[in-house]
Amino acid sequence: PDAEREQVTDVVVVGSGAAGLMTAVALAEAGRTVTVVTKGELGAGSTPWAQGGLAAVLGADDDAELHVRDTLVAGAGLCDESAVRELVAEAPDAIAQLQKLGARLDLDADGRPALTREGGHSRDRIVHAGGDASGAEVTRTLAGALRDRGIAVLEHTVALDALLTADGRVGGLRTARIGDGGALLDVTDVRARAVVLATGGFGQVFTATTNPAGATGDGLALALRAGAEVADVELVQFHPTALWTGAGARGQQPLVSEAVRGEGAVLVDGEGNRIMAGAHPLADLAPRDVVSATIAASLRSTGADHVFLDARHLGADFLEGRFPGIVRACRDAGLDLAHEPVPVVPAAHYVCGGVLADLDGRTSVTGLYAVGEVACTGVQGANRLASNSITEGLVAARRCAELLATDLPAPTEVVAPASGSGAVDPAARAAVTAATTRHAGVLRDAEGLTALVRTLAAVDRSAAPLDVAAVEVTALHTVATLLASAALARTESRGCHRRLDVPETRPEWQVRLVHRLDRTGHL
Ligand code: SIN
Repeated sequence: PDAEREQVTDVVVVGSGAAGLMTAVALAEAGRTVTVVTKGELGAGSTPWAQGGLAAVLGADDDAELHVRDTLVAGAGLCDESAVRELVAEAPDAIAQLQKLGARLDLDADGRPALTREGGHSRDRIVHAGGDASGAEVTRTLAGALRDRGIAVLEHTVALDALLTADGRVGGLRTARIGDGGALLDVTDVRARAVVLATGGFGQVFTATTNPAGATGDGLALALRAGAEVADVELVQFHPTALWTGAGARGQQPLVSEAVRGEGAVLVDGEGNRIMAGAHPLADLAPRDVVSATIAASLRSTGADHVFLDARHLGADFLEGRFPGIVRACRDAGLDLAHEPVPVVPAAHYVCGGVLADLDGRTSVTGLYAVGEVACTGVQGANRLASNSITEGLVAARRCAELLATDLPAPTEVVAPASGSGAVDPAARAAVTAATTRHAGVLRDAEGLTALVRTLAAVDRSAAPLDVAAVEVTALHTVATLLASAALARTESRGCHRRLDVPETRPEWQVRLVHRLDRTGHL
């Protein structure tokens, strides 16, 4: 649609999870004008769903080198070590700033942040809040800070496309307000010297995910259309323990935090046999890719559709106090975490790849920045270490804001919004997600991925994007297409990418798979 009105600001931030909110708050503190564009209510991204917490070296027995090593080991050879070192070094400060902004973290007897452990960590270093409501506290804190600073927010507003200059730079964003039934209203060009994408991931491309409904990859698709390079999109992390809510469950599923295993719960099969014992030296606290792949292999061999998490020995009082939200979610599903093993299954959780960026958010396109899950900075490698994601969002946001406070690109004349190759009809969404789930889940092979590439190529992309459902399904189709072709191309198993037909990790594949659209809008 054509723009009906125009606004001007220094920086437009797209998305209101931890990364977007922190970017906006830090930019406002540095004196920049900022407009935040967000699809739902302020703060309604993936962040409030995060349970476990934020990883940082704060314990007396911990050391930055250990956090670096654990992150690199989990990342299976694809981390950028210097980005990891920057993340680890700056994480404690980012958490201190969160506390200064009013975050009520869970504290130990000495008044310092209480620390727990999750998969792949060699020390207790996960800061948490409200027991298992860590992300909700981060959101409450940052959304409050944003409101206190009077930062402009466009809620229920979707980003349609970047505004481009004649020489291919980004100079703003075309947006639309989401009206009744998802109609696109009040199409507005927000002219800005920088656009910061903080739009999160695309878990909704799978039928079952821990991500909320808005995680449809809009930012990644928008960046591609704006000419940006993206990388490692095949590296989708599956959380090992989403609550199994019945065969054919669709959409967002309740998460059972890895911190429950951190406190001692174990995974068992239908006969009560330990699944992770002997599968990895860290057993139930192995890195997440290992746990999900081991569960998926167990399900293949037994024909079962879920395994169980046994937390009974932790006791009702402890579980109620430490994990109130999870106990409640189990109860809502008719389950009693303290008295029975609860059914769990891996579900799409986090995209390790994304828009190629450094930890300051710089992408390959001038004027376009990316922070948090939408970005691929090299911190997460081929498999993100538990609770490094909100930490990365905060660290990257602070750095990006610092960069834009001093080095904002010069104002430019925009000529047109970026354009893609047409929209997908929302009626195609179920077929896109079903095929992606069937062929590009935890365990993949060439035959299935080839079928997926063909299925996706046959989807018609000639509809007009008339409502938000069309914007979302078009983004989902773009990311699914990219994911399928990258997963087919990567003929090895590494981190979250597990090929049944090529189970070994191959040294020649210790590389990033980078994509961008050609002039005709094709990958
Ligand atoms: C969890 O609490 O298990 C999720 C933490 C994460 O995804 O890092």
